[in-house]
Amino acid sequence: MSVNWALPFEERLLPADKSKLLDPKIYLELHKQTVENFKEFWAERAKELPWFKPWDRVLDDSNPPFYKWFVGAETNASWLCLDRHVASWRKNKVAIIWEGEPLDKNGKPLEIKKYTYADLYKEVNRVAYLLKTKYNLKKGDTVTIYLPMIPELPIFMLACARLGVVFNVVFAGFSSASLSDRINDSKSALLITADGFWRNGKILHLKDIADEALKTSPTIRNVIVVRRLGNKINIVEGRDAYLDDLLREVPENVYVEPTRLKSEDPLYILYTSGTTGKPKGQVHDIGGYMVLLDTTMKWAFDVRDEDVYWCTADIGWVTGHSYIVFGPLMEGVTEIIYEGSLTYPDAARWAAIIERYGVTILYTSPTAIRGWMKNPKEFYTRYNLASVRVMHSVGEPINPEAFRWFYEVVGKNRNHFGSTWWMTETGGLLTAHWAGLYTTPMKPGTNGMPLFGVDLEVVDDKGDPQRPEERGYLVIRKPWPGLSLTIWGDPQRFIQVYFSRFKNHYFWTGDYAVRDRDGYFWILGRADEVIKVAGHRLGTYELESTLIQHPAVAEAAVVGIPDEIKGEVPVAFVILRQGYTGDDKLATELNNLVRAKVGPIATLKTVIFVSKLPKTRSAKIMRRVVQAVATNRPIGDVTTLEDEASVDEVKKAYLEFLAEVEKIKSDPNNKQS
Ligand code: PRX
Repeated sequence: MSVNWALPFEERLLPADKSKLLDPKIYLELHKQTVENFKEFWAERAKELPWFKPWDRVLDDSNPPFYKWFVGAETNASWLCLDRHVASWRKNKVAIIWEGEPLDKNGKPLEIKKYTYADLYKEVNRVAYLLKTKYNLKKGDTVTIYLPMIPELPIFMLACARLGVVFNVVFAGFSSASLSDRINDSKSALLITADGFWRNGKILHLKDIADEALKTSPTIRNVIVVRRLGNKINIVEGRDAYLDDLLREVPENVYVEPTRLKSEDPLYILYTSGTTGKPKGQVHDIGGYMVLLDTTMKWAFDVRDEDVYWCTADIGWVTGHSYIVFGPLMEGVTEIIYEGSLTYPDAARWAAIIERYGVTILYTSPTAIRGWMKNPKEFYTRYNLASVRVMHSVGEPINPEAFRWFYEVVGKNRNHFGSTWWMTETGGLLTAHWAGLYTTPMKPGTNGMPLFGVDLEVVDDKGDPQRPEERGYLVIRKPWPGLSLTIWGDPQRFIQVYFSRFKNHYFWTGDYAVRDRDGYFWILGRADEVIKVAGHRLGTYELESTLIQHPAVAEAAVVGIPDEIKGEVPVAFVILRQGYTGDDKLATELNNLVRAKVGPIATLKTVIFVSKLPKTRSAKIMRRVVQAVATNRPIGDVTTLEDEASVDEVKKAYLEFLAEVEKIKSDPNNKQS
């Protein structure tokens, strides 16, 4: 999203707890030292965790960018999250409080389930036993998990991790086509899904979507179905089985030894959208990933044993993998997992949850906050939100208005609050206003300071550091634990997408950023063809290639335009084939196609039928021209636009395209939406 980055740099807020307050200059001095000695720094962090076997080498960087952290070490993520807590006083501490979406007449949740660490350990061991004995799964096999926000989702993830089975979680809001693509690319033989779930007061029939996907997913031999609703579903004899039926055959207190895995073995694959092609499977390791999560749980969230932690993300995205499943459980917290919509039955549901459980740490998104802002502040004062101590946001830039609103309503103008920047590829958050370390004054709208040991920089076109307050490209100049290992099945692409744009193996994030005079980062949004809709990452290419599957469509260009709540929403410009008329009916049809093929999150805001699109001489769509017209903005700094086109060409294309779109919009006979 193109955010106005000329923001008031002078605004600063101080947290109530000033004991760790540090001058940004001193923070940056310390940061510099950790970056210069980054291997030693990360080795110190890794010593915070137990290992089956310690490492021989901190980092193998002999084959960049395929880095291996803590080489020679042996570990297991499920063991880190469970066994050590069960062997300690935390055994009977509540690990997960799960709340289903439906409410009774008095507004009380109909279903709340609590799992202690001992309960979770028991369930994970039983599921691991099942996967191992009945499905013969072993280290290195892949499975796909297509589950909603129910306790079985973390249970299956931890059970796979225990065996070294590489899991691929697909967000339950994705369509059958998206699910099928991910199953096929990961070559999974087993799918784990559910009969359905509640979302916004409605039942979503997940098994039907899974069945549809399975028509085009030949690698799947078996399906395990979690009985969430107990509704009648299609069960294919010999292929599908209910989890509860299967577990009846498993001994009650069975123990499955956690497999001793190499630090650099894969833990999971998670698909994410890029600029071109289908979503890419990011592969995360175990050792480096867990070290990064341990560090950031402590330093960003300042987790303590008495905390009640709630991350409002969906486990189907990376935020949920890192900060609902592996991070918090490794730290032994008590956490909330909520099934449904944060605004069901009304916008106060989140406030009710905070009050009900006394949430102390809250990790949420700007889209969620903007949704809550639709109501007056008084709407929330009937809830006691005083328990909250640390808050963070993630997923997209936070506008200062949303920051201030949240800081006042939930933060009571005293809590710790910041916007943590990171991405699927980074494994964990890499910038924050660090609550558990040295706190620098909070600046609304910024992403705070880079994590120690992480060499984050804003650079110009050539990869040289940009001056303070000049917009540039966000890169990471040195490897860090948690960095994705590769793209599943396509290592060349990993090099090409992330490590070839800038020199010296700099990791190219795809984001625009600014560093202000005090050293704070402001991440301004994507510099490529990726858009963030309600914080969810979508490649415009995916939407365009879906649109051209329709027989009426000759060409399509999709861009993101600002949206008050969702941050950004997609808009499509479509050229039709001869013989087709662009009207409302066709626009709806195209939108339905996108929703069916990608998922409801990809819903197009508008479809505009045009006769041509602005292109470079080599027929590449000038995206920023399309974007400028779509957002009603002047074309701005044309010199940085399209590499191949001259400034005059871009300007001409812009004016032509603008004239065309304005003509369409002002045409009284225009029948399109
Ligand atoms: O553009 C940045 C934006 O989200 C992108 C990564 O998306 P994804 O892989 O889905 O991971 C999202 C959750 C970690 C980034 O390239 N982004 C993420 N967090 C922020 C952000 N933009 C601004 N501020 C943030 N706090």
